[in-house]
Amino acid sequence: MRSLVFLLLVSVASAKVFEKCEWARVLKDNEMDGYHGVSLADWVCLSQRESDYNTTAIKRNKNGSTDYGIFQINSRYWCSDGSPTDNMCNIECSKLLTDDVTVAINCAKRVVRDPNGIRAWVAWRNHCANQDLRSYVAGCGV
Ligand SMILES: *[C@@H]1O[C@H](CO)[C@@H](O)[C@H](O)[C@H]1NC(C)=O
Ligand SMILES: *[C@@H]1O[C@H](CO)[C@@H](O)[C@H](O)[C@H]1NC(C)=O
Repeated sequence: MRSLVFLLLVSVASAKVFEKCEWARVLKDNEMDGYHGVSLADWVCLSQRESDYNTTAIKRNKNGSTDYGIFQINSRYWCSDGSPTDNMCNIECSKLLTDDVTVAINCAKRVVRDPNGIRAWVAWRNHCANQDLRSYVAGCGV
């Protein structure tokens, strides 16, 4: 019983959902503002549209791949979960779901260094590209 309570506490502790400005500051602290030409507002918009800032978000795709974490990074190319992958971030996909977001941020940096850049994210193309994104960082002091 005691260990069950402990496990529940651990799973609660590693299921972080960020507030908009909190996430904007974490991104800025991790030098994401302007990384490969991508603004902070673009990263915040992309995270909101992909996961609603939820570090434990998981989405299974029809083609058998899975998207993981606050950036919804795809298993087919970037991380390993036992399904076919290029694992270009060289990580277990589960590492993209913890509240230590440095792994997810470093992998997002790897994704955006690819030729497709930020366009790799469908939600960014559909909801953030060519939009006025000021509201995503407004009042955050970043
Ligand atoms: C975050 O994602 C997990 C996994 O999909 C879900 O169970 C949880 O309810 C989500 N949290 C919020 C606040 O939406
Ligand atoms: C599988 O589907 C996802 C979501 O639509 C997409 O991001 C990914 O590129 C697809 N992978 C392959 C190998 O087609």
